[in-house]
Amino acid sequence: STFTIAAVPADGVGAEVVAAGRAVLDALAENSGGAFAFDWTEFPWGCGYYERTGRMMDEDGLEVLRDFDAIYFGAVGWPSVPDHVSLWGLRLRICQNFDQWANVRPVHFHPGITSPLRKADHTPLDWVVVRENSEGEYAGLGGRNLAGRGPGNEVALQTALFTEKGCERIMRFAFDLARGRDRKKVSSVTKSNAQQYGMVLWDETFARVARDYPDVETESVLVDAMSAKFVLKPEDLSVVVASNLNADILSDLGSALAGSLGLAASANLNPERRFPSMFEPVHGSAPDIAGQGLANPIGAIGSAALMLDHFGLSTEAARVRAAIEATTAAGILTPDVGGTAKTGDVVAAVIDNLGN
Ligand code: NAI
Ligand code: MG
Repeated sequence: STFTIAAVPADGVGAEVVAAGRAVLDALAENSGGAFAFDWTEFPWGCGYYERTGRMMDEDGLEVLRDFDAIYFGAVGWPSVPDHVSLWGLRLRICQNFDQWANVRPVHFHPGITSPLRKADHTPLDWVVVRENSEGEYAGLGGRNLAGRGPGNEVALQTALFTEKGCERIMRFAFDLARGRDRKKVSSVTKSNAQQYGMVLWDETFARVARDYPDVETESVLVDAMSAKFVLKPEDLSVVVASNLNADILSDLGSALAGSLGLAASANLNPERRFPSMFEPVHGSAPDIAGQGLANPIGAIGSAALMLDHFGLSTEAARVRAAIEATTAAGILTPDVGGTAKTGDVVAAVIDNLGN
């Protein structure tokens, strides 16, 4: 079968890492003996497009994307455009319109990469951050210049939205994911001691949903304590479910602990499959290293593996992950993880290691 993929490299290193993931998937398809193929369409949206047209994407862009099996995204943001304009104009617009309410962000430690956390006994560490991706702190609710206050006296309101349905669906998603893992545990994260409305609704919903999963161990941890736990006791984690903002921060912490932001993969899923899901590395456009062949492509290639899982090509996804491991174990590493390899060297090694 042929899977149609909309590629949206967008800005900065986005172009380099999307090209990397495409090359790996195309190599996989070429050697599948016709079992499957990928039909790519690339879209030129992003900050450069904004400077030319005043829009981050085509007016009918969402209608066009709707017909694809998946979206493969790079990163959005460039210093010439305010970040809240570029993020809301493209990435958040896609996530919200396609109801991609579950953001899955595995934290995975790779062989051959030293990290701040690699324990002396080399315990393999592996956990998953499940991020509520449709509401919470990024609901986009609020306003500025309230009550007509002038310059120097401005008041702004940024409101978090929590619905019981929104909380419940992301928690059930997290529990179902935990059931498929060796360690059947879900850790729920809030700041419900200080934020007494939405986060308390979250906690209560978590306790109710947990009763349907007696085989899964649970804990509720405040976000400040959880950030300490990420560093001090990560072997105690399996699935971590958190609101939009908290999970955003925790997943960056997780990927840094694994060695680099450039390693982390993610999937923005519409689990009902009414709309296309979107796969993208966790990192941003990295303007400081863009265009120099320095970007670590592993986060993007890992995101391509998550896309293969979504297509039902789990064996191929596992092959891509094994090829990534073989590459890092061989010490073929970009500078962010202590090596001297270029983006293209890592891609070539991963393709070699697919073992076609
Ligand atoms: P960033 O993730 O782009 O960069 C943070 C640091 O990590 C930089 O030192 C960068 O060089 C490094 N880094 C990131 N990706 C890397 C890779 N693949 N290989 C090696 N090193 C890598 O975050 P920053 O600097 O806060 O944001 C830059 C722009 O990206 C902003 O416009 C921001 O809004 C946007 N952004 C977009 C995201 C998205 O599209 N999902 C996510 C985060 C930020
Ligand atoms: Mg982030």
